[in-house]
Amino acid sequence: MSQISLKNINKIYKNQEYSLNALRDLNLDIEKGEMIGIMGKSGSGKSTLLNILGLIDQPTSGEYQIDGKIISDYTPKEIAHLRNKKFGFVLQDFALIERYTVVENVKLPLRYSDVPGVERMPKVYNLLEELGLYEKKDMLPGYLSGGQRQRVAIARALINDAEIILADEPTGALDSSTGKEIMNLFLKMKQKGKTLIIVTHDKEIADYCDRIVTIHDGSI
Ligand SMILES: Nc1ncnc2c1ncn2[C@@H]1O[C@H](COP(=O)(O)OP(=O)(O)O)[C@@H](O)[C@H]1O
Ligand SMILES: [Mg+2]
Repeated sequence: MSQISLKNINKIYKNQEYSLNALRDLNLDIEKGEMIGIMGKSGSGKSTLLNILGLIDQPTSGEYQIDGKIISDYTPKEIAHLRNKKFGFVLQDFALIERYTVVENVKLPLRYSDVPGVERMPKVYNLLEELGLYEKKDMLPGYLSGGQRQRVAIARALINDAEIILADEPTGALDSSTGKEIMNLFLKMKQKGKTLIIVTHDKEIADYCDRIVTIHDGSI
């Protein structure tokens, strides 16, 4: 049983004016602990796929299974819980809250978790230490470099012990050597047993992955 299994997934975006088939009969299985790169031209459906994988959006048809369980059998509340517990998201523009310090940004997802209050700060500090950010803990994101900002975003994605990291162009706003630094961090996460799904259009970045799948017009 794969950790993730997509069968004949279709996603149609529709309104009065148009209807667009963003994913077409897409099939994909991902094993636990895999680091997979998703490549494809702009508009090919990569972000749509990532949003469906991360339970942010739902397919129009097809079946999505996580750990052998069919997602469409869950209630919206169960889906929200699964999303918070299972997935960590890393985006190209970091999506940090600029008026919050590094610590406050990383701590944010714990609000929705069942980690007891007294364990929260030690957990945040440990993770910041591990990602080489401890000295920056009380700074606002605006004072950090791009690579440091992305590491804060990665810490935030990991604080809930997510098993699966979904990254949409995580190195897109970084120079090439900082991008490689981030990929090495992802490799470290992989060694700890995390599953990583990384969208990129950079072949050099994709080469860090165990496997690359390419999307054309919504299919692999
Ligand atoms: N919310 C939306 N509503 C309508 N069309 C969308 C929406 N999101 C994406 N699309 C369209 O779906 C296609 C795939 O988009 P996307 O998944 O963002 O591609 P990629 O990430 O590969 O650039 C594009 O044609 C895009 O314009
Ligand atoms: Mg995209």
